[in-house]
Amino acid sequence: MLKIILKKGHGLECASITEVLHGMDLGFPPEKIVFDSPVKTEPELKFALENGIHVNVDNYQELERITAIINDQGQTKSSVGIRLKPILGVGAVKALSTCTADSKFGVQLTDSSKEEIIGWYLDRPWLTAVHIHIGSQSYDCSDLTCGVKCVVDFALEVNGRLGKKQIHTIDIGGGLPANLEDDTTRPSFQDYAETLKKEVPELFPSYGAFKKVITEFGQAFNAKAGWLVSRVEYTKKASDNLKIVLIHFGADMMTRTCYCPNVQKYQRRVEVFSEEGQLKEGERMRYNIAGPLCFSGDVVKRDVLLPTVEEGDYLILHDCGANSLSLFSRHCSRQAPAVLGYRVLEDGSVSFEVLKEAETVDDLLIFWKGRDM
Ligand SMILES: Cc1ncc(COP(=O)(O)O)c(C=O)c1O
Repeated sequence: MLKIILKKGHGLECASITEVLHGMDLGFPPEKIVFDSPVKTEPELKFALENGIHVNVDNYQELERITAIINDQGQTKSSVGIRLKPILGVGAVKALSTCTADSKFGVQLTDSSKEEIIGWYLDRPWLTAVHIHIGSQSYDCSDLTCGVKCVVDFALEVNGRLGKKQIHTIDIGGGLPANLEDDTTRPSFQDYAETLKKEVPELFPSYGAFKKVITEFGQAFNAKAGWLVSRVEYTKKASDNLKIVLIHFGADMMTRTCYCPNVQKYQRRVEVFSEEGQLKEGERMRYNIAGPLCFSGDVVKRDVLLPTVEEGDYLILHDCGANSLSLFSRHCSRQAPAVLGYRVLEDGSVSFEVLKEAETVDDLLIFWKGRDM
């Protein structure tokens, strides 16, 4: 997937130094890599600044470290921005909302803190960007736009005070939600762009205020491009009106879904196909779809009405192209599954490609005992 997006000219937003190294290893140019993490170490910051990677600063202590490194190096090829946090409130998912007073991310942007933050920019000519990511799966286009407007207004104010366009890059983060109710893509990127154009025209090239806008979309790009499938290994009766279906993924793949069963936004649609690959229809009954791990909370879907599910059927969980395999857990030492890509060709046939092979037992054992034991 990364090789495909590299070819298309996209960059990467990386939440850890290993994601940065992964991107560099694949050939992403450093200036197209954004290093976001609230816990960057000094060697990680030095590496990023020496290599011209864009750095989003999470807090003042990190800014002081960066200032010392840049003073030492004399200059940096990197663009550097501060992650700002206007207090906008909790969205649909508290754990994914970042613009709250107690969220661990970024520097609070309030009437009382603004002057101090402006001072940081005035003292540092290399501080040329601002960043905001208000959260994921939690806000609609107008909420997201509201966050973007706060940082754009801030950047315009800094540039106005300086009488020059020091802040030339606005990183608006991700956060565009994926619709999980059906196969339609809504809201669309177009919807978001239109809302931004109306409320924050200064962001767009025709206005001439900034040189570059960075986006960091995750869910909206990927969620609907992937689904999980498991063979149904067993079915069994829980009560007269509830059956349990046992499949091969659970809290290892769908960590949020299983560990936070009350968060609606972590739930996914389920469909059942016969052994021959036909979508099953007919009279429905109530099922819990449970995974293979050693605890009772390992349930990916509760109380779902499905046509009769039988041993050997295939169970599909939709919209799993984001935050599933990437959150894979070692609980019970299950092996991470293969990832297959497919395309429907013009003649209606389907071509398959192995995008990632299944983890082998040897791969898994390296995690526990290292390479040399
Ligand atoms: C800083 C940052 N940018 C972008 C994203 C991607 O968010 P989304 O998948 O909601 O687009 C995240 C998600 O955690 C993030 O923390």
